[in-house]
Amino acid sequence: MKRREFLAFTALAATWSRAQARDGRVLRAAPGRQHLVGAAHPDSAVWAYNGSVPGPVLRYRQGDRLRIAVENALPADTTVHFHGIRLPNAMDGVPNLTQAPIARNGGKFLYEFDLPDAGTYWYHPHLGSPEQVGRGLYGALAVEERDPPAVDRDLLWVLSDWRLDREAKSIEDFGRAMDASHAGRIGNTVTLNGTVQESFAVRAGERIRLRLVNASNARIYGLKFEGHAPWIIALDGHPVDPHQPPENRVVLGPAQRTDLILDCAGAKGSTHRVIDEFYGPRAYRLLDLRYSGEPAFARATPPVPRLAPNPVAHPDLAKAERHRVVFGGGMMGAMPSQREHRGMFWTVNGKPVHAEGHRDDPILDCRRGRSYLLELLNDTSWHHPIHLHGHVFRVLAVDGKPNPRVEWRDTVLLDPNSRAEIAFVADNPGDWMFHCHILEHQATGMMAVVRVG
Ligand code: C2O
Ligand code: CU
Repeated sequence: MKRREFLAFTALAATWSRAQARDGRVLRAAPGRQHLVGAAHPDSAVWAYNGSVPGPVLRYRQGDRLRIAVENALPADTTVHFHGIRLPNAMDGVPNLTQAPIARNGGKFLYEFDLPDAGTYWYHPHLGSPEQVGRGLYGALAVEERDPPAVDRDLLWVLSDWRLDREAKSIEDFGRAMDASHAGRIGNTVTLNGTVQESFAVRAGERIRLRLVNASNARIYGLKFEGHAPWIIALDGHPVDPHQPPENRVVLGPAQRTDLILDCAGAKGSTHRVIDEFYGPRAYRLLDLRYSGEPAFARATPPVPRLAPNPVAHPDLAKAERHRVVFGGGMMGAMPSQREHRGMFWTVNGKPVHAEGHRDDPILDCRRGRSYLLELLNDTSWHHPIHLHGHVFRVLAVDGKPNPRVEWRDTVLLDPNSRAEIAFVADNPGDWMFHCHILEHQATGMMAVVRVG
């Protein structure tokens, strides 16, 4: 496509997607089949939104109202949680806490709320999540800035992983105690936008905004773009001072998002690997960036765009109320005393919470409008991506080291036996989940409720 045609096409696609948004749309969750490993291999059984994994990319403009009717054609009850969106509590998609489950075989629910913040978000079920997300129910939600930065392409990479056998058939071993009590259910096959990809075509000189979403149940990614030095411009949807990550490695825990500016400065016809080396010796090639022979674009030159901040209230650190939250349990860590309590391996402040109930006495009863500073202590030998619903928080320090940037997140990745300090303004009333996003940990106790009165 010629450059001018390409731009016209992009503009048309954007207008079309905004028209869809206005009129509302339907997400239908149902069993389906998909070629996860490519057409040369057999397809696999999945659960999907609108017939594909990931589900449709929902694109809106900041300030738009999202209106989506969810239809449940699964053989299981479900809900949809729009992860990271600061929405009214009744739209949060948490079964039994904010809504009744959407009944299997035909139940419906209408989600409708405003989108106050630009950025990269995602959606997924919040009921039976280890299995439902593990089978493929998730999709990306991109909220465009009112004045988006100039890039040649704005792309989404939804990363996920699967347990497949040699025939690409999915191994349906959800909920194993062995996974739940250790690192969670990590798969043996990683897909990008729902399939294993050999290569990804780029053009010399182009500037790409790459929105990364980690939709895995448990896998953490540490991506290296060989021969490239991507800039991070947003984390969990929220703008951050553009910076290059330490060792050029982009780390994403489950549920986290990172927006990158990828300047394609390679030579025409060249090939560069993107590798995932989070688990050290088990590093693998995710795909190749393959430069086409087409004439070069010119956008890939500094400076890197800075995004306008979202309207998030800054916590008053001097007046903030301080609390400590301890995440415990797991094999090799301190055992929860309730271990006899069948299948519960993890605790928040010494107590496990049953996932399907979701209801519990809040661990924190917040006064609306007040600032809170939480010390999160990971008292286990495992990683935990800790997510708070309905709010975003500042990550002030990790392991006693002050964060050099103003970093807003909805999910913070705690390293084994580490701690982090986060702060937020409790400005969204309701009962909100506060849990580990390794879904097997969440389902076996690492979950709590934060109440904003
Ligand atoms: Cu991504 Cu409690 O959710
Ligand atoms: Cu965890």
